[in-house]
Amino acid sequence: MIPNKNDGKTLTKNIYQTMKKSFALLTTIAASIALIACSPDTTVTSPDGRIRTSVALNEEGVPALTIAVDGQPLLEAPQLGLEADGVNLASGFSLDKVDAAQHDETWTQPWGENREIRDCHHEIAVRMHNTEGVSLVLRVRAFDDGVGFRYEYDTPVDSLRLTDEHTMFRFAQDGLSWSIDGNYDTYELPYREQPISAVARANTPFTFRIGNLYGSIHEAALYDYPEMHLLREDSLTFKAELAPLPDGVKARLAGRFTTPWRSVQIADRAVDLINSSLILNLNEPSKIADTSWIRPQKYVGVWWGMHLGTQVWTMGPRHGATTENAIRHIDFAAANNIQGVLFEGWNRGWENWGGNQQFDYVEPYADFDLERIAAYAREKGIELWMHNETGGNIPDYEANMERAMKRYAELGIHTLKTGYAGGFRDGYSHHSQYGVQHYQRVVELAAKYHIMLDAHEPIKETGIRRTWPNMMTREGARGMEWNAWSEGNSSEYLCTLPFVRLLSGPMDYTPGIFDIYYDRAKADPGRIQWNGDNTHCSIKTTLARQIANWVIIYSPLQMAADLIENYEGHPAFRFFRDFDADCDWSEALQGEIGAYIVVARRAGERFFLGAGTNADARTLDQPLDFLQPGVTYTARIYADDVNSPLRTAYRIEERRVTAADSLRIEMAADGGCAVSFEPVNKHNE
Ligand code: NOJ
Ligand code: CA
Repeated sequence: MIPNKNDGKTLTKNIYQTMKKSFALLTTIAASIALIACSPDTTVTSPDGRIRTSVALNEEGVPALTIAVDGQPLLEAPQLGLEADGVNLASGFSLDKVDAAQHDETWTQPWGENREIRDCHHEIAVRMHNTEGVSLVLRVRAFDDGVGFRYEYDTPVDSLRLTDEHTMFRFAQDGLSWSIDGNYDTYELPYREQPISAVARANTPFTFRIGNLYGSIHEAALYDYPEMHLLREDSLTFKAELAPLPDGVKARLAGRFTTPWRSVQIADRAVDLINSSLILNLNEPSKIADTSWIRPQKYVGVWWGMHLGTQVWTMGPRHGATTENAIRHIDFAAANNIQGVLFEGWNRGWENWGGNQQFDYVEPYADFDLERIAAYAREKGIELWMHNETGGNIPDYEANMERAMKRYAELGIHTLKTGYAGGFRDGYSHHSQYGVQHYQRVVELAAKYHIMLDAHEPIKETGIRRTWPNMMTREGARGMEWNAWSEGNSSEYLCTLPFVRLLSGPMDYTPGIFDIYYDRAKADPGRIQWNGDNTHCSIKTTLARQIANWVIIYSPLQMAADLIENYEGHPAFRFFRDFDADCDWSEALQGEIGAYIVVARRAGERFFLGAGTNADARTLDQPLDFLQPGVTYTARIYADDVNSPLRTAYRIEERRVTAADSLRIEMAADGGCAVSFEPVNKHNE
């Protein structure tokens, strides 16, 4: 954890005052559950000594775990264990032995917020067996930025029907939390800022602040198991609730399995939750040996018009994915330093969306000459993206996806956006073990055909991008589309997203709409309403904030989502032209949840900064000490025109700066600021 440099002045809720007063009254919550000290040592401490995690068994042989920070209890799991048909994995345990280990390694990834990541942790593997002869291992890792623990099971039985997971999370005291509701089919839900004690049910990441500490509960390495959300048991206790299969069973597992990690990030500053690599460190190294074909991209596409209602996915006079439009987009990308182009509605079957959900993943519509377009894209050095909307029809997609990917590979296509906008069949939910297995099958098949993935309506990110680096980005929260046909995403939502959903990994938010009030769409008399009333809709932030989101919302596949005609000739589009989606270092510099955020990234010798505020206009001073010392940079600043009430009003300023300077960031209400830094002359001192 990094010492708190931030005065957090926007967080003035009374609850914090109450929490501070009651901090001194904290008793060791572990004492309340009659724990029996285990011998040998079942405690593991983070390398910096601040986070201490202890495992113990109570009188019934039920395992439990406590997490304390700086000697103060933060969270405990008063009960651990699993429930399975015919096998007791929950009680009667006694301790066999504890294996302790230490690990310190710096590993590199082919892409990511940071090229290099340090994994430094202490570990214990608590080996137990119970009265029925069942063995279970509880593996716990303590890092300076949090804790992970998981169950490992290895017995001679062939298979197991898992009916429940008993993991509990009990907070030592109340605090504030930020989360979406727990739901087994969607993550496209608004954030709630609530006292922890008021949360009935929440999905993860579940971000909280208790006293001066920030934290977030999530899971890492989710494979062949349902997702977990948190269900309240009593005021400060939550149970790990698993998405069920249609018959109520939570998972069908082999006789040997490890569960996903249950993770708790811990930080002194809100932004250090973002700067943590805990989730990636809890995942396994890459299973793809040659990653040279996996490359971050900026992209544009035939997409926003459909959401605005000026184009359609199906063939007809308003069809977006036509050969002519494809060529126009490829030319635009080639002229603007953009690597990829996405086409939605290129393939037959969109008439069936919302009906029998049957799409053809190989045959293009007659007005989309796929072979010609693919050849033209190759000639221009542009990556052509395919799009597979499945409507949630998993059996049909699984039957056809290999043939489709094979065809894309033949055409030289390396990037695929998938979508699951529709309920799964036969009572299966998106986030159940069935869903997790399906999403993973797609990842592994895509790797076989050297295809990078962008999944919409996905399973939550749990860091599997480390192991499967072709799993580039995903949606899994309310993205830009919500601005086209609903009340939209507020600036407060955008200031919450980095501290909750984005802790899990990259998001394909599809940022960067410049036509803030949809003037072009409104001028179109034939505009349709395809997903409810869209007449009142608009972008809820300033244009400068739309630019800043390209930096703030990390995605290795980063879209400029507006209609390309809204970018043509626009001075502010220079930022995206200059921007590099392939960064090698990142840091969230300052911010408070739901209030504001400042992020910097480096790509080669250049740096990019993005800042955003909520509905409050805000001025921040940002030291530029992240820049390379001794180098002078041209800073190109894209800022709100704070004197104008229009969200489209912005100014561009150019200035020479060095690492010794500080930048004053002035943001309008719902505003932001983006800066690109380009070296003028290196080592000029
Ligand atoms: C929902 C996705 O999030 C969006 O990006 C896509 O355009 C539609 N489904 C259609 O597939
Ligand atoms: Ca969506």
